[in-house]
Amino acid sequence: MKTCTVHGIKLATVDQGRGVPLVLVHGFPLDHTMWSGQIDALAEDCRVIAPDLRGFGASDVTEGTVTMAQFADDLAGLLDALEIGEPVVLCGLSMGGYVAFEFWRRHGSRLKALVLCDTRAASDSPDAAAGRLKTAETVMAEGPSSLVEAMLPKLFAETTRKRHPELIDSVRKVMLSTDPRAVAAAARGMVERADATAMLAKIACPTLVVVGRHDVISPPDEMRAIQAAIPEARLVEIDGAGHMSPLENPVEFNAAIRDFLIGLRA
Ligand code: MLT
Repeated sequence: MKTCTVHGIKLATVDQGRGVPLVLVHGFPLDHTMWSGQIDALAEDCRVIAPDLRGFGASDVTEGTVTMAQFADDLAGLLDALEIGEPVVLCGLSMGGYVAFEFWRRHGSRLKALVLCDTRAASDSPDAAAGRLKTAETVMAEGPSSLVEAMLPKLFAETTRKRHPELIDSVRKVMLSTDPRAVAAAARGMVERADATAMLAKIACPTLVVVGRHDVISPPDEMRAIQAAIPEARLVEIDGAGHMSPLENPVEFNAAIRDFLIGLRA
């Protein structure tokens, strides 16, 4: 991994392969390792940039609240640090999708295309927001274990839970090792995120919407609504996968990304 100083903090990132930059933005509370089924495979087709967002993985932690706008600005700074001036394909999963919406708002001219995976355009309901703020408090007081055990069963399809318990264990390890300050800061930041529903119709770049067929956090119906609202969007549903579609079915997920990248060249 490379380490770049961006906005006064160190951000760690994978930077592998050549060609069109494909930026893979992880979900909450994870790190770049959720893209382990993509990095080597897709680096044969493009330049894969898979950072650890501020606070996560090997990147520096900042306390308080980290907004989706801050994460998006960090990504723009990271691209500068890596001397990537050409427009990128930005692929974000769940919280990574919230960051992608902010990147579109703030740095849209740097986008060649978007990939929105297992994410939501709507902001939090008052109940969801209150729940997140409570989670932030609990994680700061007791560590992330209660959050982890509440989230884990919702992340994976039934088939993954039965056939690939090792994937669940690896995600559990990442979540448990995440700094509580980073978990709390991102949870508070998600509460503050703007509703992206109204901007969907304005997204003019080619967009791929990807959803695990069994995702219960950002279900296929909700992702279909996102696709329908974006003028140039296609949707791919991934079999045998829940919220963690790239990890659960990398073969289908990578095929969808490759097809999309080929379409961008045409
Ligand atoms: C994620 O996977 O990033 C989370 O489910 C996002 C969220 O909590 O809204």
